[in-house]
Amino acid sequence: MNRLLHFAALVATVAVAVKAASNSSYLQATALVTNAQNHSALQCWQFTDPATVSSEAGTSGSATFAFANTTETIYTVIPARFNGGTHNAPVPQIVTFLSGLAHITLPVAVHGNSTLDEAWIVGGADGFLIAVDTGGTGHITTYPTDQPTVSLQIPFASMEDVPAYSVVSEGPCHSGTSGGQLV
Ligand SMILES: *[C@@H]1O[C@H](CO)[C@@H](O)[C@H](O)[C@H]1NC(C)=O
Ligand SMILES: *[C@@H]1O[C@H](CO)[C@@H](O)[C@H](O)[C@H]1NC(C)=O
Ligand SMILES: *[C@@H]1O[C@H](CO)[C@@H](O)[C@H](O)[C@H]1NC(C)=O
Ligand SMILES: *[C@@H]1O[C@H](CO)[C@@H](O)[C@H](O)[C@H]1NC(C)=O
Repeated sequence: MNRLLHFAALVATVAVAVKAASNSSYLQATALVTNAQNHSALQCWQFTDPATVSSEAGTSGSATFAFANTTETIYTVIPARFNGGTHNAPVPQIVTFLSGLAHITLPVAVHGNSTLDEAWIVGGADGFLIAVDTGGTGHITTYPTDQPTVSLQIPFASMEDVPAYSVVSEGPCHSGTSGGQLV
């Protein structure tokens, strides 16, 4: 009897664990990387650790993902119709566009397919990306709208401080749900 109860309790625990795993959500982000040929390329990343549930006052119960070891937060207002030119990520960093529109292209085509070689990042819920192409041929960012584009740049202390991720696909992510980049 005891053994049977213990077994029932174990089954219940396993069921809860499976449910907790199946409702996990994961953060995805378009990433600018330097590929093996020393060219900037776009990838869709998913961070390995699942989002957690916030227990902070004000956001309690919300899905949250923390980035440790970032060094500062830089608030930038980019003028309307600005061309950022060809450049590399100065350091491995998070870039999140709060408003406006950023158009990222590659000076050296990697796939020869604009679906994979360019990204349109709309400021707002889906405006979060990772830029770690610190070497190689770089990328071009233009801001084609008539409004300024507001961004936050949040550098990591080093590449080792970028959380573990897997590559979902080549080319940018296509979340586009306006519900954030959790899947
Ligand atoms: C998943 O569901 C379980 C049980 O309802 C809950 O305790 C847990 O916080 C949920 N996890 C996430 C990431 O929402
Ligand atoms: C470009 O890449 C996309 C995504 O992989 C694919 O669906 C499409 O067929 C490709 N287009 C060409 C012309 O190869
Ligand atoms: C990669 O590109 C950078 C900048 O263009 C250059 O300084 C570096 O030597 C290149 N590295 C390799 C392995 O080709
Ligand atoms: C943050 O940096 C500390 C000190 O170098 C290190 O021990 C820790 O693993 C880092 N955390 C992450 C998430 O990279």
